[in-house]
Amino acid sequence: MLSVTTKETIRATLPAVGAAIGDITTLFYRTMFAAHPELERDLFNRGNQQQGDQQKALAGAIAAFAALQLEPDQARVDLILSRIANKHASLGIQPAQYLVVHKYLFAAIAEVLGDAVTAEVAAAWDELYWLMAETLIEMEAGLYRAAGVADGDVWRQVRVRERRQESADAVSFVLTSLDGTPLPPFAPGQYLSVGVHLDDGARQIRQYSLSSAPSSRDWRVTVKRVDAHTLPDGSVTPRGEVSNFLYRNIFEGDVLDVTTPFGDLVLADDDAPLLLISAGIGCTPIMGMLGHLAQTADPRPISVIHADRAPSSHAHRAELAELVDRLPFAVMHRWYEDLGARSPEDRLQQGRIDLGEITVADGTRAYLCGPLPFMLGVREALLDKGIAAENIHYEIFGPDRWAPATP
Ligand SMILES: Cc1cc2nc3c(=O)[nH]c(=O)nc-3n(C[C@H](O)[C@H](O)[C@H](O)COP(=O)(O)OP(=O)(O)OC[C@H]3O[C@@H](n4cnc5c(N)ncnc54)[C@H](O)[C@@H]3O)c2cc1C
Ligand code: HEM
Repeated sequence: MLSVTTKETIRATLPAVGAAIGDITTLFYRTMFAAHPELERDLFNRGNQQQGDQQKALAGAIAAFAALQLEPDQARVDLILSRIANKHASLGIQPAQYLVVHKYLFAAIAEVLGDAVTAEVAAAWDELYWLMAETLIEMEAGLYRAAGVADGDVWRQVRVRERRQESADAVSFVLTSLDGTPLPPFAPGQYLSVGVHLDDGARQIRQYSLSSAPSSRDWRVTVKRVDAHTLPDGSVTPRGEVSNFLYRNIFEGDVLDVTTPFGDLVLADDDAPLLLISAGIGCTPIMGMLGHLAQTADPRPISVIHADRAPSSHAHRAELAELVDRLPFAVMHRWYEDLGARSPEDRLQQGRIDLGEITVADGTRAYLCGPLPFMLGVREALLDKGIAAENIHYEIFGPDRWAPATP
């Protein structure tokens, strides 16, 4: 809890800090990486830095956390912090590193806001930072404890037992321990981090959702290689570094550095009717959930909805249908932008996803994974259908700009 005086100072300065927070986080990363190049090279995702996504996610989280101290909403605080803590845990972040972030963040605040940062203002934001940091440190310690690892000690080596082509651009890797013992269990929907050493000497880390059922001895991830693409202004973005590295270089028998699974998009422990909605490679956490539901022959109504460019680009297409077939009350709807020579049929449609005809039972929980604009559109349609906002859960394949932004 912040003191009353601190709250008043935060209230008075939030508009100014909020307006400048984008500049502050940009300067923060620039100066921190100049002093600690190893953080940019070996810990942070430099693709996200180039695109500005991580700067925006940090800015959004700090601004939202500050606003939530003034208008408390514990559920939103928990949602925002749990997402960050899980991501931090999957990277092995440790308490001492919060001092480093503090140093460069507060230097950036002082530089951007100049004289407006009086001793009183600095002390108030300092208190807010440590409230957020200490809550995160505690949550991360809880996650490390629950995973049975020492603080930050999340990395292990695994061997690729099988590599399978799942679509033209996506491959799955079945991972097994080096000594043949079962890998630790995980919750359906969770992800792990993969670290690879690239040609320029950087060790870059990315997250991949577990696309297999949690109770098997092995883990499976499915990676879609990210191609270069042309933006509306004509500039061309580079090919994804890690996805292409994995696609081109990792085969059966190879050893990979991965972390213990973390992630807070997990199936709730209840029997609510389910809507599982994915687009493109966003199918992966949903495959993990469906695998689990099929293993337990879950008897509840489940609607599985997937959107993709074409059947040929749909990773795990046949496996998805098999899992749905194994569930007594599950139905599958698919939308492909290009159906090729096939004709639309019942629950197999051409075009973009349209939830108009999907019926939603009372108390339904929805789990979403796909590009952010897709999920925001689906969220609106689900709210219109009467699904409660707190029953709409999602995973984003990048820094989260949803949680701080959605009411
Ligand atoms: C929780 C979570 C789960 C995930 N699960 C999966 C999964 O199951 N399967 C999966 O395939 N992916 C998954 N992802 C995404 C994955 O982690 C990677 O983000 C993805 O593989 C791309 O990584 P990359 O290194 O290939 O691309 P990066 O090199 O990181 O590039 C990412 C994007 O940034 C663009 N970019 C890079 N530099 C610039 C620049 N200078 N200017 C403009 N644009 C630039 C690239 O063109 C590309 O489009 C998940 C992500 C998260 C957070
Ligand atoms: C109070 C302090 C901090 C806040 C508010 C914060 C906030 C965030 C947020 C919002 C994200 C994006 C999460 C997501 O949606 O995926 C994130 C990711 C991350 N954080 Fe922190 N963080 C803090 C401290 C730290 C510290 C101490 C470190 C270690 C140096 C760190 C390293 C990272 C890394 C490496 C990522 C992933 C970046 C990426 O994938 O682009 N953070 N953090």
